[in-house]
Amino acid sequence: MIHELSNPVVKTLLNHLRETETDALRFRHIVQELARLLTYEALKSEPLEPRQIKTWQGEHSFGFIKEENLLFVSILRAGLPMIESVTALFPKASSGFLAMKRDEKTHQSVLYYDRIPPCEGKTVIIVDPMVATGGSLCDAIAVIKTRSPKKILSLNLIGSPEGITIVKQKHPDVKLYIAQIDQKLNEYKFILPGLGDAGDRSYNTPE
Ligand code: PRP
Repeated sequence: MIHELSNPVVKTLLNHLRETETDALRFRHIVQELARLLTYEALKSEPLEPRQIKTWQGEHSFGFIKEENLLFVSILRAGLPMIESVTALFPKASSGFLAMKRDEKTHQSVLYYDRIPPCEGKTVIIVDPMVATGGSLCDAIAVIKTRSPKKILSLNLIGSPEGITIVKQKHPDVKLYIAQIDQKLNEYKFILPGLGDAGDRSYNTPE
């Protein structure tokens, strides 16, 4: 399932990312805000489990998301600002990291770092700003599926229709929440109009 957010606040923030004058600090800040907004949407139907807590009026039971069951997986490097903000919402959630690099010639993604805690019974939430060809996300999902999670969600900021279609075809069971689906990929597999390279923009890495 693909769910593109329509909220004007989301679109406004996303469009600020397109501006070249948005510097790295502001860029990461917006990426973090959007990651939170995507999390709210993706966990809209998450059940609340009753827990007995101490309040100023004594002990009472209130509902909480079982955050120990959440496992956020960041695709390095552009997913780093996203995982910072979503784990701030859920300090008891666990985190994993996959590093995928897109080969500039073949446009295929290459996995070069894999550090994910056990996934059994967990809701695994992948965070990566961009879905261009969809190769990195499909590969990340395939790696995580071998580890028997309860379910997999993906939070992304911007994608191409081509990449989104591939993810949907290969992994119809994965729910993907995205702030913006853009027009198309260019011949170099960059998203148009897009926002450039989110990793480079986040950390001021020259091309
Ligand atoms: C970007 C992006 C995704 C990938 C998307 O990362 O963050 O991981 O490209 O492209 P795809 O859908 O065609 O696979 P990149 O490979 O540029 O690495 P980076 O995060 O280090 O910049």
